[in-house]
Amino acid sequence: MSAALPTSSREWHLVARPHGWPKAEDFALREAAVAAPAEGRILVRNKFFSVDPYMRGRMNDVKSYTPPFKLDHPMDGGAVGEVIASNAEGFAVGDHVLHGLGWREIADVPAKHAVKVDPDLAPLSAYLGVLGMTGLTAYAGLFDVASFKEGDAVFVSGAAGAVGSQVGQLAKLKGASRVIGSAGSDEKVKLLTEEYGFDAAFNYKNGPVRDQLKEAAPDGIDVYFDNVGGDHLEAAIGALNVHGRATICGMIAQYNATEPTPGPRNMALIIGKRLRLQGMLVGDHADLQPKFVEEVAGWLASGELKYRETTVEGIENGYDAFVGLLRGENTGKMIVSLV
Ligand SMILES: NC(=O)c1ccc[n+]([C@@H]2O[C@H](COP(=O)([O-])OP(=O)(O)OC[C@H]3O[C@@H](n4cnc5c(N)ncnc54)[C@H](OP(=O)(O)O)[C@@H]3O)[C@@H](O)[C@H]2O)c1
Repeated sequence: MSAALPTSSREWHLVARPHGWPKAEDFALREAAVAAPAEGRILVRNKFFSVDPYMRGRMNDVKSYTPPFKLDHPMDGGAVGEVIASNAEGFAVGDHVLHGLGWREIADVPAKHAVKVDPDLAPLSAYLGVLGMTGLTAYAGLFDVASFKEGDAVFVSGAAGAVGSQVGQLAKLKGASRVIGSAGSDEKVKLLTEEYGFDAAFNYKNGPVRDQLKEAAPDGIDVYFDNVGGDHLEAAIGALNVHGRATICGMIAQYNATEPTPGPRNMALIIGKRLRLQGMLVGDHADLQPKFVEEVAGWLASGELKYRETTVEGIENGYDAFVGLLRGENTGKMIVSLV
């Protein structure tokens, strides 16, 4: 056990359930007392925490695959930090760990929910992104869920984000015939083709997705990786070739909607083209973790896989980072840094 522990920690609470777009008044940064860790627990000084689109769903009081955040309690999510006190076998002060108690400075973590990470192998923040949850989502969603095979033409939406930028590059690395991405700014589109090796990309704000996709993929697509839903999904159903597959990973276009959003109007095409559209949850794919880390770490080391992070400094900017993510202010993984 370490001698001088901090006595308090700041943490973000959800104080009201957002209706539509979250507002600053729905959140509060509050002080909490810090105590020495009980048996089987470790105290972690968080260095980085993750803000993710799925957290918007957890702000609603609805039954889902993850329970809603409780009002007036700290929010949680992925974080990496340094152990400052340990009351658990196998963890020592100075170890770095990945765990699920983000949105706070000091986390009192059950040791069984912490995984040691090596800061010399990769920057700590990478364990939240390219080598972490969003990376595994890309890997499992493309190779397992969409049954990607060499020669497939792949379209990914949200392509300059954490999951999307990795999907497109993984597809290229594994021999896709063509990779097309959509994103929400001309700078992001440029990054996709000039730095990440996409064959074509377009800004979905510049015109109908259907028309821009047709131009970018004149021979159609075999795989669609959906991060957005709505008009993107409709356009992809139209562009998918016979026996095409779609991974339904996210529908960020509707996360702040206050009314039901229109579905794709061309679902009947699924019949004749014998399409397969499959939802995914990254948590179902833990079995792929070792293979994912081995392959992705190799491509990172060789420089074949590139990634960006958008880092917002300071716990007091946690809410801004989260809303910025929903607005598209990030390129690659959105991270809050506490160092
Ligand atoms: N199923 C799973 O297990 C799982 C796991 C992780 C993530 N996801 C999903 O995967 C998707 C990407 O997640 P991420 O963590 O990588 O986030 P991200 O793509 O890094 O960030 C979100 C991006 O969404 C885009 N966006 C926001 N509103 C949009 C709209 N109305 N239409 C089109 N694009 C919009 C923004 O980029 P632009 O500037 O391009 O608009 C923004 O940067 C999300 O839908 C998320 O919910 C699912």
